[in-house]
Amino acid sequence: MASAMRLLVTGASGQVGTELCRQAKARGWTVLGVDLDRLDITDAPAVEDLLGSYKPDVVANAAAYTAVDRAEDDADTAFAVNRDGVDNLARICARMRIPLVHYSTDYVFDGSKQGAYVESDEPSPLGVYGASKLAGEQCALASGAGGFILRTSWVFSAHGQNFVKTMLRLGAERPWLRVVADQTGKPTSAHEIARLTLEAMQQGIPDRMRLYHLAQPEATSWHGFAEAIFAAARRHGMELKVDRVEAIGTSDYPTRARRPANSVLDCQRFERDFSLRIRSWCDALEDVVRELANG
Ligand SMILES: NC(=O)c1ccc[n+]([C@@H]2O[C@H](COP(=O)([O-])OP(=O)(O)OC[C@H]3O[C@@H](n4cnc5c(N)ncnc54)[C@H](OP(=O)(O)O)[C@@H]3O)[C@@H](O)[C@H]2O)c1
Repeated sequence: MASAMRLLVTGASGQVGTELCRQAKARGWTVLGVDLDRLDITDAPAVEDLLGSYKPDVVANAAAYTAVDRAEDDADTAFAVNRDGVDNLARICARMRIPLVHYSTDYVFDGSKQGAYVESDEPSPLGVYGASKLAGEQCALASGAGGFILRTSWVFSAHGQNFVKTMLRLGAERPWLRVVADQTGKPTSAHEIARLTLEAMQQGIPDRMRLYHLAQPEATSWHGFAEAIFAAARRHGMELKVDRVEAIGTSDYPTRARRPANSVLDCQRFERDFSLRIRSWCDALEDVVRELANG
């Protein structure tokens, strides 16, 4: 694969899509980033037209329906985007012999495993979002397209909707927060996902779709992550009202969708196959909080 590639990014204004476009351009790649207003991935003729005219070396699909709770009452849309949209992209990519890089989620697992999940563990999603993402993975794997699927988790960045921004908003408003401490996972920055995606692409994209876990060490709980967010915010001079972050159980914080108690991803296959080291989320969190603190 040539070192400077021609990349098409779908879902380009989402957390991961934004970072992919920014970092690929910084590497001197030719990049076209399109979001829902320019390319709805559920519209197969539109996907075919754009791939046919732009002729990318590789497509990165960062488009997704990511509203975990809303998906419970809107399964049709979640499956339309996360399954049928991926099916469109993957089948058209396969026909045009364009590799596809696609993202999936730790929420394909039910969380009952003791220890970290590997790629060969049986998925068993607890909710509609996870089920729709699993269906999308299956479409990508069955399509015959080359490429890889990267299952990631607990994504954060300085833009878009995410836990870091929610905590900083609530922490500026309230003295006392209650945060779930019995769900464990790996926070992962969109910046690191994009960096590692581009590094892996550059090394050579598999001819057959391959599944990888990609999340940053170390595992923590939402409560542990919240404490780290507030510590970083204080280091960067952000004004916070919060002085008490109470650890609560999932049962004390009912949500529309059930979430896995353990969604820790084992990422050794990715690190081994691509000879890449995944950095800790702590440094990435520092960078994101710094960016938010500086406005
Ligand atoms: N966020 C997480 O915590 C998390 C965790 C694990 C895995 N992941 C996976 O990581 C990937 C990237 O997530 P993210 O956090 O970057 O998501 P995001 O910020 O929600 O971005 C997704 C983007 O896709 C767009 N989109 C929605 N429907 C579309 C359609 N039919 N056609 C084209 N674009 C469409 C959205 O546009 P609108 O905003 O206009 O709807 C949005 O810009 C996804 O595959 C997600 O499932 C995310």
